[in-house]
Amino acid sequence: MDSLFLKKVRTEADIYKIPRIKDEGFEFIKQLVIDHKIESVLEIGSGNGYSTLLYFTLPYVRKILTFEYNPKRYNLARHNLKNNKNIRILNQDFLEYFESGERFDLIFIDGMKRKYIDFFKHSLRFAKHSTIFISDNINFTGFDKKDSIPKKHQNIVKSLKEYREYLTKLDGFDTKIFPDKGDGIAITKKR
Ligand SMILES: C[S@@+](CC[C@H](N)C(=O)[O-])C[C@H]1O[C@@H](n2cnc3c(N)ncnc32)[C@H](O)[C@@H]1O
Repeated sequence: MDSLFLKKVRTEADIYKIPRIKDEGFEFIKQLVIDHKIESVLEIGSGNGYSTLLYFTLPYVRKILTFEYNPKRYNLARHNLKNNKNIRILNQDFLEYFESGERFDLIFIDGMKRKYIDFFKHSLRFAKHSTIFISDNINFTGFDKKDSIPKKHQNIVKSLKEYREYLTKLDGFDTKIFPDKGDGIAITKKR
């Protein structure tokens, strides 16, 4: 995939104000994906497909299933992803997807921040023992470090705090939080 196209998709996300992964955050994820020879990815929240394309450029990745429930973003992403037959994008709420049978090496949680605990629980049916869960924006633009959180973000910051506590106390799983990678990234694995 040529880097000009990737840049175009990144600029498109910025023009339409579609949140996208921070490049430095993806640099960190990239190494992990390569080290673990990740072949299949389940992504919750495609946006306009920028992170989906980034994953697909990585050496071992050969299959991606991604969910985007916002119709406008879905249409942009579908267009951006259309040349890759091993990427499937579904225009539906991930929490309403129950089809079983498929298991993924990596589950990337990047949908609505208030729903992260629900996403994690729901995604377990698509996981194997070795699956790695990556949760993005775990520190939500650094608001945790600031004294005053804008009112409109208070619920999100609270939900993400609850999610971090949920993950770190979860029986049978180990979670490491990397607050300084991108917008904060949590890596969770089954014990
Ligand atoms: C942070 S953006 C995704 C950015 C994208 N992963 C990237 O880095 O380029 C989150 C997206 O998730 C979508 N979303 C949120 N909750 C969802 C759900 N339950 N099912 C499907 N899509 C969801 C939103 O519409 C939004 O476009």
